[in-house]
Amino acid sequence: MHYDFDTVIERRNTCSLKWDSTIRNYKDEDILPMWVADMDFQIPPEVSQAIENRNRHGIYGYMDGNPESYGEAVADWVYKRHGWKIRNDWLVCTPGVVPALGFAIMAFTNVGDKVLIQTPVYTPFFKVVKNNGRQLVENQLVLKDGRYEIDFQDLEEKFKSGVKMMIFCSPHNPVGRVWTQDELKELGNLCIKYNVLIISDDIHSDIIYKGNKHIPISTVSPELLQNTITCIAASKTFNLAGLSTSTVIMPKEDLRAQYKNFMSNLGLHSCNILGMVATEAAYRYGEEWLDQLINYLEGNLACLMNYFSENISKIKVIQPEGTFLVWLDCRELGMSDDELARFFLHTAKVRLNEGRSYGSGGEQFMRINIGCPRSILMEGLKRIGDSLKQIK
Ligand SMILES: Cc1ncc(COP(=O)(O)O)c(C=O)c1O
Repeated sequence: MHYDFDTVIERRNTCSLKWDSTIRNYKDEDILPMWVADMDFQIPPEVSQAIENRNRHGIYGYMDGNPESYGEAVADWVYKRHGWKIRNDWLVCTPGVVPALGFAIMAFTNVGDKVLIQTPVYTPFFKVVKNNGRQLVENQLVLKDGRYEIDFQDLEEKFKSGVKMMIFCSPHNPVGRVWTQDELKELGNLCIKYNVLIISDDIHSDIIYKGNKHIPISTVSPELLQNTITCIAASKTFNLAGLSTSTVIMPKEDLRAQYKNFMSNLGLHSCNILGMVATEAAYRYGEEWLDQLINYLEGNLACLMNYFSENISKIKVIQPEGTFLVWLDCRELGMSDDELARFFLHTAKVRLNEGRSYGSGGEQFMRINIGCPRSILMEGLKRIGDSLKQIK
């Protein structure tokens, strides 16, 4: 079956953060939203069908725990796509990855403990650490020849200062890195040496471009399997973010018990029925759709790289190895962060994410979302290109 990613589907007035908040906040219907990380594509028809089938029953009472079939679908998917054999009893269903990170911080660290993140990184990582009273420690990634790398020397220095936990973004949003086995090994060894618990946010792990391979850090060694908590979801992969469903993989029994206990104390005993139905169907029947989506995104990425190199050479594209997010180095434009923000939003009329919101190293960068029909992407690029010509 051939899936359609070209049709533009109206998203205004659907309570969409991406589209409706743009109109509400800026009072300008003409701004094209290419920011927050959801896609403008309909979900696989097989997933819609599963939701419809469940809806036909028409009763949404309390669930008796999480269904076995959900765990089986998750485990099959993780094995099929990433070669990792996980057990059903290692899984905990959570109402989203950011909440799952928050639960981990609260279950496994105390107020005042140090939690490390690698900047520039997904904005809620900052909040989930700081707003829960933990100390944020930053290990800034370094940009070398157009590709980001981990500064291991700095990482070790920071670990020596007594870091308890690290939130690892794998693949990395916004810089688009898919970490290699060697990088994972080096990072993992340091975590074991300094007794740092890893929370690996693998939400973007299913969207990987040709020539790269996502490796769950837990698979690197038996020690790392026991020292890592991995968060996954079908939400980025299949555009299901509004269904607030994710899964945490926790092989270590005592950590799992502690985590479940923490959730139970919050009254969280089961997940959203429709989120679980959709996730299970996506993992069972969505593989062909996903392969076609990745092809389509690769096409979008090629168009974007081409457009920038031909028309906007002052903005350097950091080529992503995975994710539908692209990190743009705008430093050569010579604009301040305020000027950049104003330029994209009010002159070019495209809403991107501002690099500075991703912390140190994000200044004078922007992040664009290419998870949209190609016509929308080209319209956004043209707006940027035409507007830059005007101000030159
Ligand atoms: C790295 C990362 N983690 C988590 C999330 C959000 O997860 P959720 O919506 O399940 O809380 C995002 C969304 O963009 C993300 O990029």
